[in-house]
Amino acid sequence: MENILEVKGLKTSFYTPSGVVPAVGGVSFQLKKGSVLGIVGESGSGKSVTAYSILQILTPPGRIDSGSVKFNGQELVGLSEKEMRKIRGNKISIIFQDPMTSLNPVFTIGNQLIETILLHTSRTKVEAHKRALEMLSMVGINDPERRMHQYPYELSGGMRQRVMIAMALVCEPEILIADEPTTALDVTIQAQILELMTELQHRLGMAIILITHDLGVVAGMCDEVIVMYAGHLVERGAASQIFYQPKHEYTKGLMRSIPRIEKDEKERLIPISGTPVDMLLLPKGCAFAPRCERAMKICLEEKPQEYWINGYNHLASCWRNVKEGTLAPEVPGKRPMIQLKEESV
Ligand SMILES: Nc1ncnc2c1ncn2[C@@H]1O[C@H](COP(=O)(O)OP(=O)(O)OP(=O)(O)O)[C@@H](O)[C@H]1O
Ligand SMILES: [Mg+2]
Repeated sequence: MENILEVKGLKTSFYTPSGVVPAVGGVSFQLKKGSVLGIVGESGSGKSVTAYSILQILTPPGRIDSGSVKFNGQELVGLSEKEMRKIRGNKISIIFQDPMTSLNPVFTIGNQLIETILLHTSRTKVEAHKRALEMLSMVGINDPERRMHQYPYELSGGMRQRVMIAMALVCEPEILIADEPTTALDVTIQAQILELMTELQHRLGMAIILITHDLGVVAGMCDEVIVMYAGHLVERGAASQIFYQPKHEYTKGLMRSIPRIEKDEKERLIPISGTPVDMLLLPKGCAFAPRCERAMKICLEEKPQEYWINGYNHLASCWRNVKEGTLAPEVPGKRPMIQLKEESV
């Protein structure tokens, strides 16, 4: 399958008065046309900043230090704001976690939808009105004509989220980035929204980047998964590989912490111990090593290399794969293979 998005060595930092926060520390991945890619990882691991970097909607003091983001082969890093505006909302859309931050409280729903359509397409006002109504029906909003005249505060949380989805999809983007699209909603509405996104993905053939803490949602929707820790991509692969053959100790921990139907009922869920790493004081070696039960000496001393596991689809950045894995070729500053002793610390 063709890649619609290729991210290579993306580095984004926040230049704060207390120091430089390397929020995204050199991340590479691809998104295949029409597929769903999940991004998981604990709070602060750099998921949203990765999304904002792709769309270049970072707020100061954040900025992209280096790397490349190619959309359909076109380089986005370095494009002018005017050129980015042609892509944003039109070719690549985002649904933010909190719909109130992206809906304007002083304009009606109809007004905001119509403005978006007029901005991105060559439709007339009458056509835009019709399209807005269609979109509201498509996202399951009843009585769309009446809703068009309402203000965001007059709608429930679930409805606002649907309006946000309508807004993000109104120009039929090729990529939808959904950043925790359902966190603020109750489970029934959550399920409806996810179902709606999947249906639209199939109908419009768009690709989705789904950022979520909910591994159940990932298992149900994603073709491929990226696991982030402390601004780094620690593992990536097909969803089944990440769930059933995780190769990074952090991913293994994540998987042990979720309930599974096939598990013995009495089997305990094991939370990952320790606290998230301080991004201003990243350790010398693997960022996860201080919390890792299987850390070896080298994990504390050297950043792990990236290894391909069983061919070239599954990648993990963990020293434990030194025997089984193949050194990934695209790692900058590639070092020779190191012979490891199974020496736990
Ligand atoms: N405006 C900012 N100034 C300084 N640091 C920031 C800023 N925004 C984000 N960061 C830092 O960037 C890192 C990544 O943040 P990001 O929002 O991408 O995390 P996340 O994985 O999306 O977390 P969550 O699951 O909580 O949404 C964090 O360490 C965060 O503190
Ligand atoms: Mg986030």
